[in-house]
Amino acid sequence: MTIATDIAYLAFNYEDVGRAENFYKDFGLVTSERTSEATYMRGADGQRYCFIARKGGRPGLACVGMRASNMDALRTAATLPGASAVETLQRPGGGYGVRMASPDGIPFELVYGIETVEPLPPLEPLKVNHGQHRPRKGVWQRPGLEHARALRLGHCALTTNNYAANAAWLESHFGMRPSDVLYDGSKDNALGGFFHCTGGEEWTDHHTIALFPGEPGPHHTSFEVQDFDSQFIANRYLTSRGWQPLWGVGRHVLGSQVFDYWFDPEGNVAEHFTDGDLVPPELQPEFHQVSDDSLAQWGPPMQVIDFIRRKGVST
Ligand SMILES: [Fe+2]
Repeated sequence: MTIATDIAYLAFNYEDVGRAENFYKDFGLVTSERTSEATYMRGADGQRYCFIARKGGRPGLACVGMRASNMDALRTAATLPGASAVETLQRPGGGYGVRMASPDGIPFELVYGIETVEPLPPLEPLKVNHGQHRPRKGVWQRPGLEHARALRLGHCALTTNNYAANAAWLESHFGMRPSDVLYDGSKDNALGGFFHCTGGEEWTDHHTIALFPGEPGPHHTSFEVQDFDSQFIANRYLTSRGWQPLWGVGRHVLGSQVFDYWFDPEGNVAEHFTDGDLVPPELQPEFHQVSDDSLAQWGPPMQVIDFIRRKGVST
């Protein structure tokens, strides 16, 4: 089995890369570099890029990049059925990768050795006065209206009509395990799930890849922001810039993230999140009946069927 430590990047094909870049800059990413084929964008962490907007090709998701912790993982991955040999990545920052495809035919790459960069200066965490703990004395809470600063790529969600095959594939190819599983009627009728990585830190994101029921394809891409104010200000900023919201701001149930979702200019959905759950890699999954109540603890109303179809409400 090969083990992935985290998600590395997502690549999408665009008819108009410049307009996509404008959206993701407003969304909080920073342009890392442009080549004749693509624009590479980063968050504030030390990864050289986490989002690739490619020119041309069939519009939509082009690839999900997963990170390995060493070259041996890539050599092992190259022995899996349908996988490529270990290849040199022809992108800024170099590195090595193995190409493969999910049971639904979605291209994945397991990568290692991409050069890192200096992290961008961090935002100060929001200092909050709570009822019994009030550390903010004589300092005003007056953040200005500005785009978010995306810290990092957190996860992506995919839709599938074959949960079982894709769940097994995520485990066999990347060592991923479910944190929470969604079923309809009985537990042996699983329709979706939230998968965490097992190859990285002592604590890891509740989900790095999520599977939702639906026609095979991408559902959304999610980037972490610093705190609640960053989230709400970013929401207002994107509204002021005329971009189209899907849903939010609210707080999820499974994963607990505070969220909001937006359409990029070619209809792909991007999410900001903050305050997500961390889980130990050995976590055993919980099972949940799919219901509208499983989506959010608070926020604008949303039905599961509309969320899956990416038909939203934003107020
Ligand atoms: Fe998400």
